[in-house]
Amino acid sequence: MRQVFITGHGGPDKLQVRESPDPAPGQGEVRIRVAAIGVNFADILARQGLYQDAPKVPCVVGYEVSGVIDAAGSGVDTSWIGKDAVALTRFGGYADVVIVPVAQVFAKPVSLSHERAAAIPVNYLTAWQLLVIMGSLKANETVLIHNAGGGVGLAAIDIARHLGARIFGTASSSKHSFLKQRGLHEAIDYRVGDWTVEVARLTEGKGVALVIDPIGGNHWRKSFKVLRSTGRLGMFGISAATTSKLIGPLRMLPVALGMPLFHPIPLVNHNKCVFGVNLGHLWHEREMLAGWMQILLQGVAEDWVRPHVDKAFSLTTAGDAHTYIEERKNIGKVVLVT
Ligand SMILES: NC(=O)c1ccc[n+]([C@@H]2O[C@H](COP(=O)([O-])OP(=O)(O)OC[C@H]3O[C@@H](n4cnc5c(N)ncnc54)[C@H](OP(=O)(O)O)[C@@H]3O)[C@@H](O)[C@H]2O)c1
Repeated sequence: MRQVFITGHGGPDKLQVRESPDPAPGQGEVRIRVAAIGVNFADILARQGLYQDAPKVPCVVGYEVSGVIDAAGSGVDTSWIGKDAVALTRFGGYADVVIVPVAQVFAKPVSLSHERAAAIPVNYLTAWQLLVIMGSLKANETVLIHNAGGGVGLAAIDIARHLGARIFGTASSSKHSFLKQRGLHEAIDYRVGDWTVEVARLTEGKGVALVIDPIGGNHWRKSFKVLRSTGRLGMFGISAATTSKLIGPLRMLPVALGMPLFHPIPLVNHNKCVFGVNLGHLWHEREMLAGWMQILLQGVAEDWVRPHVDKAFSLTTAGDAHTYIEERKNIGKVVLVT
């Protein structure tokens, strides 16, 4: 098998392919011959040494794959063998062979290529948890999706559109026309001017019902401010840390110092709610995740889950895939193919 290792913390050159014998599945596990792998922002943070959940280097990251099952361990229904499947992997996904517990494996929708299937698990589960499970978004409510052009952003647009919400999104201006075609009602260029002023203008000063914010630090403070009464803020990432000019773990400092502290009294008095989402800390809730995944896969059949792959890179050029995202070139998902 070939795996892409993070050999040390730093730039994309720290990603290197290594070969080893194919592993065999253990009890309750299957082996997948991987066709496509989803690249996530967390993989970049892990490479930069900014992701506290990542294994120690050298390590193989990667949270999701799509491919064909070619072996099953003891206790697993052998009818899985030969089936196309999409799976959540707790790291180890950057490989052409992976071993995963069968509880994390789902039949790939026949209508989707492996590339598009690999774009579903992390992005859509995260967006589902943010908008539906914890954000409680309703028809005709307004949601503000930050980083609307990213993988989670496009998934959130699909789900908000399905719910019948009014959808605002921030993204680089080059992505606006595509995002509007996907269902965004109002596109805001957060890199020019103050986006909070634009949100106030668009809502006639009322604010929005839900904001989902993966930027972190001081940005969460601003997102909280644009909530209307009964509004909810979902915090789920710290992309801002990657732009810090400091080195090593110090890069987290400006983000950490800028973070708001939410005291209960103002929350009560302003009728506002804040919550956090970390999909990587839900592995103990496999049945819950599987239930959400079944709804999302049904959404593929009903055509409201529309995974969009911007670009596919070969597994051996994973560093180029990271650079592409870090240069903010992607609209939607970037995948690796074997
Ligand atoms: N908590 C969770 O469970 C969870 C799960 C999935 C993702 N996340 C988080 O959600 C965020 C988005 O993830 P994703 O995989 O959807 O991302 P993605 O598709 O890789 O998004 C990349 C886009 O993010 C925007 N961006 C904003 N700040 C950036 C920065 N400092 N450096 C580079 N790009 C930046 C850029 O779009 P513009 O051109 O519009 O600026 C860029 O094209 C990340 O923070 C990630 O860690 C969290």
